[in-house]
Amino acid sequence: MIIAVDGPTASGKGTVARAVAAHFGLPHLDTGLLYRAVGYTVARMGGDPDDPASALAGTGFPDATLADPELRSEDVGGLASRVSRHPQVRAALFERQRAFATQPGGAVLDGRDIGTVIAPEAEAKLFVTASLAARAERRFREMRDSGRQADLRDILDDLTARDERDQNRADAPLKVAEGACVLDTTGMTIEQAIAEAVAAVNAAT
Ligand code: C5P
Repeated sequence: MIIAVDGPTASGKGTVARAVAAHFGLPHLDTGLLYRAVGYTVARMGGDPDDPASALAGTGFPDATLADPELRSEDVGGLASRVSRHPQVRAALFERQRAFATQPGGAVLDGRDIGTVIAPEAEAKLFVTASLAARAERRFREMRDSGRQADLRDILDDLTARDERDQNRADAPLKVAEGACVLDTTGMTIEQAIAEAVAAVNAAT
């Protein structure tokens, strides 16, 4: 069974995907981390994330990079969204995601194009979303709670820019996959969102 979880930044898709994977006893891949590793590697090499050749060079990151906590930072998220626009980068990461999705026994993957490009044949597809205000508020609290400097206006601007880039790129833009169940988590607690997601997967399979 393949479960595809897509959605915009800070929608709760990562939390939902992890919980769904635990519930069904399936391995989980956060594909955003792969794009983050590329963006991070390009920056460390002194490359330009907007240049296709430079961005492609970042796809050769060593596996150990994926465990670096720095990958979770806002800055690296911004770099990831820039390198992810290049079709060469997406193509270079395709096989790795495809192999994970098709492993015997099934898998849960979360990202932007899982239900549309990586595993269009997924038995269950979820599109997790929330209003811009709710997503910004969650990101704000998350940053503040972890002791980081947070400014709501900056977060709103950053989310808007990332949505813009993710939805309007030519290759694999973020959109609701055919047959996907849209889960709007605005106003839901994490527990409610997880319960709804599990119910949607059960209904689809
Ligand atoms: O989900 P996360 O915020 O970690 O993803 C970082 C960036 O990587 C996203 O803004 C998006 O541009 C890109 N991405 C993508 N396709 C995926 C996963 C992430 O383009 N499947």
